[in-house]
Amino acid sequence: MGESAGTGEDAQAPAVEFDGVGRRYPGGVRALDGVDLRVERGEMVAIVGPSGSGKSTMLNLVGTLDAPTEGAVRVFGHDVGALGDDQLSALRARSIGFVFQQFHLAPNVRAVDNVAEGLLYSGVPLRVRRARAAEALERVGLADRAGHRPHELSGGQKQRVAIARAVVGAPALLLADEPTGALDTASGVAVLEVLRELHREGVTVIVITHDRELAEGLPRRVEVRDGRVVADSGAPTGPGPHTPARTGPGADPATGATAGREVAR
Ligand SMILES: Nc1ncnc2c1ncn2[C@@H]1O[C@H](COP(=O)(O)OP(=O)(O)OP(=O)(O)O)[C@@H](O)[C@H]1O
Ligand SMILES: [Mg+2]
Repeated sequence: MGESAGTGEDAQAPAVEFDGVGRRYPGGVRALDGVDLRVERGEMVAIVGPSGSGKSTMLNLVGTLDAPTEGAVRVFGHDVGALGDDQLSALRARSIGFVFQQFHLAPNVRAVDNVAEGLLYSGVPLRVRRARAAEALERVGLADRAGHRPHELSGGQKQRVAIARAVVGAPALLLADEPTGALDTASGVAVLEVLRELHREGVTVIVITHDRELAEGLPRRVEVRDGRVVADSGAPTGPGPHTPARTGPGADPATGATAGREVAR
């Protein structure tokens, strides 16, 4: 899955680059401070850290829902701060899918139509949207629940519908903010498996989680504390072709960090 041709995307650019990024909220809260981060295309990254550490702020910046107050955010090579609202909307519609902790499904709307909503701004006719939505539901294992409304689905199924909606437009980048936070363990595992499958298909996946065990199972962990990245288990070592994140034996059980960059607190 990639970007369509002729959109001015830089095919060589990493999925995400943060360059000295800060986000200060009115009133003085400094939610992020001096964050450097690079996520290559096709990576799967967990963002971990305590409540209030800046994880959602970070994901909202990646998703171009918010802009930094210092530094630069680049998504597929686009300097987000240099794009106008229309260009940002286009970038999001074309390349980015979101999944949230609380599903955000439209009540009383069938699963297939909730998913089809993910293509609302694509210019695709309704019939085609529905057909693609049905395919997306099949991918998350819910073909037999297409006609169910959210209140007729379990929590884990609702989240899989939300994932189907996020990926129905074939985004290259999938962002998930605590997608398993509202789920029991078994449902959380099923949801994570869907995210892993998308990763295997080449989608870049960034997932925020409080769940340490879940995070340890992912190829790369970025740990945030007080608005700073304090550990990164698999930061690519420099420009050039995709460097696989370091995983597996050698991981420090205390921090989950491997020989990758350890950033001073
Ligand atoms: N709109 C806002 N205005 C002012 N301060 C904010 C705003 N949004 C977040 N903050 C503050 O910024 C900091 C980081 O918030 P953020 O939502 O990124 O944390 P988080 O790591 O996602 O936490 P949680 O795990 O609880 O979701 C917090 O101190 C929060 O109070
Ligand atoms: Mg949050």
